[in-house]
Amino acid sequence: MEGVRTHNCGELRASDIGSAVMLQGWAASVRDHGGCAFINLRDRFGTTQIKFDSATNPDAFAIAVGVKAESVVEVSGTVVSRGANANSRIPTGEIEVDAGSIIVLSVSRPLPFPIADEVDAQEVTRLTYRYLDLRRGPLNSNIVMRSTVCKLIRDYLQGQDFLEIETPILMKSTPEGARDFLVPSRVHPGQFYALPQSPQTFKQLLMVSGFDRYYQIARCFRDEDLRADRQPEFTQIDMEISFAVPELIYAIIEGMLKHVWKHALGIDVQTPFQRMPYSEAMERYGSDKPDLRFGMQMVTITELVRNSGFKVFTDATAAGGVVTAIKVPEAEKWSRKDIDGLTQVATDNGAKGLAWFKLAPDGWQGSAAKFLSDEDKAVIAGAMQAVSGDMILVVADARPAKARQAMGAVRLKVGDRLGLRDPKKMAFLWVTEFPMFEFDEESQRPVATHHPFTSPVPDDLPILESDPLKVRARAYDVVLNGTELGGGSIRIHSSDVQRRVFKAMRISDEAARVKFGFLLDAFEYGPPPHGGIALGLDRMIMLMTGAPSIRDVIAFPKTTSASDLMTDSPSDVDDDQLRDLHISIRK
Ligand code: AMO
Ligand code: AMP
Repeated sequence: MEGVRTHNCGELRASDIGSAVMLQGWAASVRDHGGCAFINLRDRFGTTQIKFDSATNPDAFAIAVGVKAESVVEVSGTVVSRGANANSRIPTGEIEVDAGSIIVLSVSRPLPFPIADEVDAQEVTRLTYRYLDLRRGPLNSNIVMRSTVCKLIRDYLQGQDFLEIETPILMKSTPEGARDFLVPSRVHPGQFYALPQSPQTFKQLLMVSGFDRYYQIARCFRDEDLRADRQPEFTQIDMEISFAVPELIYAIIEGMLKHVWKHALGIDVQTPFQRMPYSEAMERYGSDKPDLRFGMQMVTITELVRNSGFKVFTDATAAGGVVTAIKVPEAEKWSRKDIDGLTQVATDNGAKGLAWFKLAPDGWQGSAAKFLSDEDKAVIAGAMQAVSGDMILVVADARPAKARQAMGAVRLKVGDRLGLRDPKKMAFLWVTEFPMFEFDEESQRPVATHHPFTSPVPDDLPILESDPLKVRARAYDVVLNGTELGGGSIRIHSSDVQRRVFKAMRISDEAARVKFGFLLDAFEYGPPPHGGIALGLDRMIMLMTGAPSIRDVIAFPKTTSASDLMTDSPSDVDDDQLRDLHISIRK
């Protein structure tokens, strides 16, 4: 008969010596030293060494040496000192339990991979046996961190008068942005619910209802292409605030992140965070989520090379393009192969090439140095504040955004190579004044950069119809170390402005009514001005723990092809189920 443990496996200390205890846990290792055997007993709190002495407790010893690794056992005994054999690397290392008895509670089969902090098993195997992978220290502590952070967030937001309110998981399909996951209705043949991409419309309706400050740790579903920082279902810390201005939202989020970092990691985050308009982020860092752990800002040299001798530069500028450059120190450290690697990054990110110039003491070396006059070189070096020993990297392109994105990607690669992206540094940033729309090549129309409920900057309202791509949005992202942690905006609260925004996106009144009639109607009944934000919880935990992927901070994640290898999902369903749902599969 099992009993209730007196302690967990991470708890006992020298002050417990002499106590009678009962522990339960997994036998992480079993070592038989002849007259004496040891089991390292593990649970999520830690590991305690259990000693079995064949002379004093032969029955317990006989059972202990036969225990298979990762079986679950119950041990009763006395806490004793390990004396000179103390292990200072673990918190329980000063003591061990001298076992009087042991009961095997369940037996483990041989394992597909060892339960160790570092394993070289394939990720496919680890995901198939996810329940075992989660026993490993690093994953285990990621999941514990996630729980800790959720509690801290709830504590903080409840303290700021936020109400936690649930919103539907089965909702109306309103594709805009990512693709929806659909759920067929049995009761309404041929009709579908969608899983929420976010609680966006519902949280705005809660503001119309007067709930004032809402939050939810909300599951969101997006059928999009996956990457290391994207999952088909993920979790947002979602909030909405009535009578909000951006400054209020910044202050609440800064306070929340400060609280979380302080209590979960013991790190003091400096507030307020730096702020940067989108246009500056793109120009200086080639990204709307700049990594500010290092400088190496991009410099636009378009005007300086407009009349230079290098055709690549002059062609790009003549076509209305951009020439942008960074300066890299210690040029001699970069071999041709390294530079080819950087060129690859540039071309992978849409550039046509990457020009490099090493400022050697005896003159400029590099791919296009021979095309530049001494005057060209002097002007470029001046703009870059470059001196002998530096290297200048340049991307020219007729498409300004492409030139900048490519240079931004090269900048990050150089930062990686020089070890400037220190995971211990925390560079928070607000990126503000995003463009309201971007032009979608596929549908040949402006689409909302954030979402269509985002308020335009009031000064830009007059050009909403005439020049939509110039309109700025009251939208902001919070960025940490080059990752977009969250995004939000002040919303439209006038049904007239909302209709104009739909119109600018060439969504007809009829189409807008079909999709969002409920929201437009609600805005006719006294909506308060409001705004909000959602932070990606998974990404936040990934950055806090230094995990390489969000898969490592989700208990049961999906692969990059959106499957769950453990439960083998998605999977076929019975014909009966399909018939009930009025569905036939098109082969
Ligand atoms: P947005 O679409 O920017 O905004 O999402 C907010 C944050 O959610 C996280 N995120 C993801 N995390 C993991 N996997 C994904 N597939 C994924 N997609 C997004 C990111 C992102 O910054 N309703 C608005 C918020 C608002 O305006 O209040 C929204 O969903 O960290
Ligand atoms: P090419 O004349 O195409 O061989 O280019 C000469 C050099 O110019 C190449 O080795 C590249 O380093 C550089 N280069 C080519 N295209 C670009 C570009 N779009 N931006 C910057 N440098 C480029």
